[in-house]
Amino acid sequence: MLLGVNIDHVATLRNARGGFEPDPVLAAKICEKCGVSSITTHLREDRRHIKDEDVANIKKQIKTYLNLEMAVTDEMQAKALEYLPHSVCLVPEKRQEVTTEGGLDVAGQLDKITKFIVPLKAKGIEVSLFIDPDEKQVRASAQTGAQFIEMHTGSYSNAFATDREDDEFQKLKNAAKLAQELGLRVNAGHGLDYKNVGRMHEIAGLYELNIGHSIISRAIFTGLESAVKEMQELVK
Ligand code: PXP
Repeated sequence: MLLGVNIDHVATLRNARGGFEPDPVLAAKICEKCGVSSITTHLREDRRHIKDEDVANIKKQIKTYLNLEMAVTDEMQAKALEYLPHSVCLVPEKRQEVTTEGGLDVAGQLDKITKFIVPLKAKGIEVSLFIDPDEKQVRASAQTGAQFIEMHTGSYSNAFATDREDDEFQKLKNAAKLAQELGLRVNAGHGLDYKNVGRMHEIAGLYELNIGHSIISRAIFTGLESAVKEMQELVK
């Protein structure tokens, strides 16, 4: 299993003061030095953390696979075609949410998403759909032409160490199995941390985990390199 790191919260901290530090590009360089499989940035409509120039600079200065998380909007499609990340991960986006709260409703907008990804794929950008571990959403994702799904692990993470953990975990396991049977590669992420990440090894064929908040939080106390390496040990 591979580890991709989401560096959005380095930019969140920078934006709290409006200056230049901490620099997300430096964070991406440290992650690259650690050998992570990908670096994720989420360019949100309100630019609350990552800004356009961050994506451009990371793309210019980093060789590691760049995954751009974004909403299904014309503006973001144009940005992806301008920056040409290695992949995009399509996510739902609500202005008021603190973080991406649920998965993308692919089944409810199958036509729109299928058309949306055509120009991205034509430019060689791989496409991933961030969905809840739900049979209907997995089946719809397989029809869009996307190569990957990323399973939203938020419900599992919230249920970790409670009597709901097994149920939430089983949903991930079932969704991953179905997705792979339908020819999709399967990533997972959201809310994963140093304690709950272990069970991801029980999901056969999981390709990559995308983890942000817990790594950046630990990095404040231990340094980013150490926080990334510690997670890499748990994920590999
Ligand atoms: N994957 C996706 C699609 C996300 O939206 C996020 C959060 O930005 C993550 C992974 C990482 O989640 P966390 O920061 O909780 O590790």
